[in-house]
Amino acid sequence: MNPKVDPDLCIGCGVCAETCPDVFEMGDDGLAHVIEGADCESAGCCQEAADACPTEAISL
Ligand code: F3S
Repeated sequence: MNPKVDPDLCIGCGVCAETCPDVFEMGDDGLAHVIEGADCESAGCCQEAADACPTEAISL
């Protein structure tokens, strides 16, 4: 799994960082970013975060 946040779709709601803080973090730009070296398999919450994103900005 290779999580990505589309910066054109992200509205910075923060749900992904709340749902899956091991993989997603909020940046200074107000948008979500994938934490470097984050591992969806061991975090086990990427799908949940992607499903929770209101703008479907997360691809896996
Ligand atoms: Fe952005 Fe979606 Fe996360 S809008 S902050 S990628 S839940």
